[in-house]
Amino acid sequence: MSVFEIICLVWLGVAVVVHFVMFYVTAPFGRHTSENWGPMVNNKLAWVLMEFPSLAIMTYFLFWGTNSMNSFAWVVFALWIFHYFNRTFVYPLRIKATSKKMPFAIMGNAILFNLMNAGLNGYFLSEIATSNQYDITWLQSPTTIIGLVIFFVGLSINWRSDHILINLRKPGETGYKIPHKFLFKYVSSPNLMGEVIEWAGFAIVAWNLPALTFAVWTYANLVPRAKNHHDWYHKKFENYPKERKVIFPFIY
Ligand SMILES: NC(=O)c1ccc[n+]([C@@H]2O[C@H](COP(=O)([O-])OP(=O)(O)OC[C@H]3O[C@@H](n4cnc5c(N)ncnc54)[C@H](OP(=O)(O)O)[C@@H]3O)[C@@H](O)[C@H]2O)c1
Repeated sequence: MSVFEIICLVWLGVAVVVHFVMFYVTAPFGRHTSENWGPMVNNKLAWVLMEFPSLAIMTYFLFWGTNSMNSFAWVVFALWIFHYFNRTFVYPLRIKATSKKMPFAIMGNAILFNLMNAGLNGYFLSEIATSNQYDITWLQSPTTIIGLVIFFVGLSINWRSDHILINLRKPGETGYKIPHKFLFKYVSSPNLMGEVIEWAGFAIVAWNLPALTFAVWTYANLVPRAKNHHDWYHKKFENYPKERKVIFPFIY
């Protein structure tokens, strides 16, 4: 087994531990923000700073990596960069400004998370993958096409749900409301479900260990976060719909 594979597997192990811890320790940002976690930073700025490394690293490996342009590996890079361009520059501009801040520690953790995941994925695609791994046969294979469909279905669910949440507040409002549209009829966090689906699709397209590791990390992070959101809704709103699930319709 190579050193690279060992690093991926250890990182995968960390995801499993973090998954269980996060059911008990709520990450203090957004509605769960807390001043008990040390110095605070502006919410919008934190989103840009913590997501930018992921965008920058993958862009670097795409243009300056050894093999990125020798095959269709650029398609895999493009999916990542498309998602992270939105998350780094569009999403933070769209969220409504509130007086809420994010602990510096959370931003730091997210930067580490992004450095690791983008670093492993970019390094694999540009320095380890051979040019026939991502050749035209790969691009036209049913697995790649199914993965692409899953990726874009997940991305659409994530974007549409984030859009609904962001627009619950009228200009100047800072509070919270119960969302009812689209998949919110079924689950408390369709935006997080969309993101889980999206990175599962990415792992099917890329079909490599670091992409699988990132899909597992996304699931590990977002399922407990959705549970934290779900419990928070029930505490905050007496009339919160009882039949609504946490993240996966009719299942959990
Ligand atoms: N890949 C990963 O591991 C990862 C990790 C974390 C997040 N993310 C992604 O980042 C995005 C944000 O995640 P999040 O957990 O912070 O999302 P969230 O709590 O659902 O919040 C999204 C936005 O909508 C606002 N909002 C949420 N619920 C609202 C309500 N009931 N009424 C009014 N406004 C509401 C929030 O305002 P406030 O900020 O004021 O609460 C925030 O601006 C998602 O797309 C998620 O998939 C990805």
